[in-house]
Amino acid sequence: MSEKIIIFDTSLRDGEQSLQASLSVKEKLQIAMALERMNVDIIEVGFPISSPGDFESVRTISKNIKNTRICSLARCIDEDIDVAADAMSILDFFRIHIFLGTSNLHVHSKLKKNFNEIISMAIRSIKRAKRYTDDIEFSCEDAGRTSIDNLCRIVEQTIKHGATTINIPDTVGYTIPDQFGKIIKSLYQKVPNIDKATISIHCHDDLGMAVGNSISAIMAGARQVEGTINGIGERAGNAALEEIIMAIQARKDLLNVHTTVNTTEIYRTSKIISQICNTPIPANKAIVGSNAFSHSSGIHQDGVLKNRENYEIISPRDIGLKEVQLNLTSRSGRAAVRHRMRVMGYKDSEYDINELYSSFLKLADKKGQVFDYDLEALAFINNQQESSEYFKLKYFHVKSSSTGSAEASVTLICGKETITQSAKTGNGPVDAVYRALNKISEYKIILQKFQLVAKGKGKDALGQVDILVEYNKRIFHGIGLETDIIESSAKAMVNVLNNIWRANQVILKLRQM
Ligand code: KIV
Ligand code: ZN
Repeated sequence: MSEKIIIFDTSLRDGEQSLQASLSVKEKLQIAMALERMNVDIIEVGFPISSPGDFESVRTISKNIKNTRICSLARCIDEDIDVAADAMSILDFFRIHIFLGTSNLHVHSKLKKNFNEIISMAIRSIKRAKRYTDDIEFSCEDAGRTSIDNLCRIVEQTIKHGATTINIPDTVGYTIPDQFGKIIKSLYQKVPNIDKATISIHCHDDLGMAVGNSISAIMAGARQVEGTINGIGERAGNAALEEIIMAIQARKDLLNVHTTVNTTEIYRTSKIISQICNTPIPANKAIVGSNAFSHSSGIHQDGVLKNRENYEIISPRDIGLKEVQLNLTSRSGRAAVRHRMRVMGYKDSEYDINELYSSFLKLADKKGQVFDYDLEALAFINNQQESSEYFKLKYFHVKSSSTGSAEASVTLICGKETITQSAKTGNGPVDAVYRALNKISEYKIILQKFQLVAKGKGKDALGQVDILVEYNKRIFHGIGLETDIIESSAKAMVNVLNNIWRANQVILKLRQM
């Protein structure tokens, strides 16, 4: 009979730690909700000891996610374990994930220990975690480069002392599929109490083999697989969960295992994560790339028209992608917008139709036709912006020419006040707008990255501006989406100012606790 593979998502921990700018609590919650809808089994939501912001996110997600097991990471340090448990304490059931380096390199040069000391540290930490939960995962960090004898020893001991899941990470993406599968097989052959725990794998993609290694390990008996959506993660990233999940589904003839993931949520979840994390998906990316289901050559198109299976091994519908023709204009009503959102797979409760409709009308007036992508972007961007935003862009005016300095005047609502400032600069209208905004907010920020991409096609596409800004040694991300690129730029900066303001509020709150 087909056995279940447990899907463990670490987009919010391993994925998030690789981003240029850390995510806000709200953004993390939005991702956790998408993962819950997708019905993954476990969400690793953070590393609570690492920062007050991470602690706060784990706590907020624990309060809001009802149907998915929540997990937090801890080193083999008492305080890490206590703080992880504290962050999830609102929950009746949660998982603590403890990790410790086990390869000679990690044991000697990173941790400056011998292997007996490593085993003792692991056992001690598992005992500590048992004070809080029975669901304990132990990871042998750098297992891919750990001798099989040492790996068997530590796996046996950690199971004996209460670890219920043992994770075998290929931390540096060093192994190849045949080798990694053999490591898992050896554990099953050599560790006497192996049947008392679930064997998990966690592969990185440094040699482009993370998904291959994961599938090989599943074939060798691993029953939990860890990864991230879109493969985000340290360096070259983690194994892309959507690829593993769809490989399991498409090749059940060979693998004889299954997951309980709602695969029709994959496409949407992937888009949400890409948008929030500011990590674009390559067009040719398996499963979720924009070309993954498009057929270009005449021979392929002809073959697909005769029978899709000629060139398609997965139906786009299985990942929630629906081929749709959309012709929404400013004459379309609210019902048409809602229908379009339903066709794309969004539930009515997931967005505010009144807010979406009013931004849709503004856009339709400017663009004429509004496409699916535009609608989705409007819904997401609206979702990300809290109605209680502290800073709101009220008005701006720019003057720019090829001969003189650019000038901008900006009016910003700041809480209960409305403030206007102007600025002049030789560096163009965006710079002038940013200078005026900075005069108003008075935050000491440094613009690190400015990126403008066209969303949609043609001259009336939306311009999406993504910026990275340094403030108090932290990086903040802002996004703005409008047909007018100066307005997008201004909104991206206002988004950053709100993120900084919120981060300052969290710090204030924590100081008062
Ligand atoms: O890659 C790794 O080894 C990890 C561990 C913390 C599981 O991310
Ligand atoms: Zn990792």
